[in-house]
Amino acid sequence: MKLTSVDKQFCTDKPDVFPAVVVNPDDCASVAESADYIRHHKAVIEQQLARSGAILFRGFPLDSAEAFDEFTASFGYPNFYYKDSLSNAVRINFTERVFTANEAPKEVEIYLHNEMAQTPIYPDKIFFFCLTPADQGGASPILRCDLLLDALAQANPELAAAFEQKGVKYTTTMPGENDPNSGQGRSWKSTLSVETQTEAEEKLARLGYRWQWQQDGSLKATTGKLPAVRTLTDGRKVFFNQLVAAYQGWSGVREHHQDSLCFGDDSEIPKAWLEEIIATAEQYAFDVEWQAGDVAVVDNNLAMHGRRPYGGETKRQVLVALGAATDNIPA
Ligand SMILES: [Fe+2]
Repeated sequence: MKLTSVDKQFCTDKPDVFPAVVVNPDDCASVAESADYIRHHKAVIEQQLARSGAILFRGFPLDSAEAFDEFTASFGYPNFYYKDSLSNAVRINFTERVFTANEAPKEVEIYLHNEMAQTPIYPDKIFFFCLTPADQGGASPILRCDLLLDALAQANPELAAAFEQKGVKYTTTMPGENDPNSGQGRSWKSTLSVETQTEAEEKLARLGYRWQWQQDGSLKATTGKLPAVRTLTDGRKVFFNQLVAAYQGWSGVREHHQDSLCFGDDSEIPKAWLEEIIATAEQYAFDVEWQAGDVAVVDNNLAMHGRRPYGGETKRQVLVALGAATDNIPA
């Protein structure tokens, strides 16, 4: 397998680039041949992904949700089904494995985050597939979480140590009904895969949440202590959380962040620290400028992702499939 360089690719001081880029070597003329190519190079792809955190596959003949489904299946990861996740975004399924990335309106930015890091259940791998790029904008920024943590620890050791030692808790409100116009519009029934309030409470208790029913039928829930910094199996420490997206993107959080975000011991996170994390994260982001047919595989443990706003008449279509680590499949 041969790696290609692209413009503005992030070069670290380690022997890897971010993201790694693989261009179709011209011998993959069909979806089946593309899937064979992945199976044949599985070992080196795995190695590259573990080091770099993201691989962009460009120029492969993929032009439908079904083709993307077959391509992702060739990697052999266990499925992480969106319906079983605790994600709070409204999405639409194309195949059992493939769904829309986020139904939020085009002018809305989805800020950098590790997928589902605000819940105790998150996917291991994320596949993005560009069916149709936007006319303007619509790139997906990605960010290496170990580089972000290194930068934060260097500039503000107290900040890095506090997040590592204390962890974080997130408070979200799940509406009574789906609201596709919100980045967090998934109803509590859908989010928790339940039908009744009793079932919802049982599930939340099992997952370590505390909760409060609201007058309008929505459900306010606070996680138990979740990690903000994790140590990966290779020893790298990563800033793994939802802080940037929650602070900037969740409704009302920028104004009253203490209602939605706190340290794992319930103490307040300084606002200035959240601002510092956001400014640092932006410096390390690489924008994946989508071309039709592109697939990006992101290691969710090592890299954050987001979505830039976009414009124009064309409907941007970026689809997603998720892979589970065998030890973290939703119950
Ligand atoms: Fe996401």
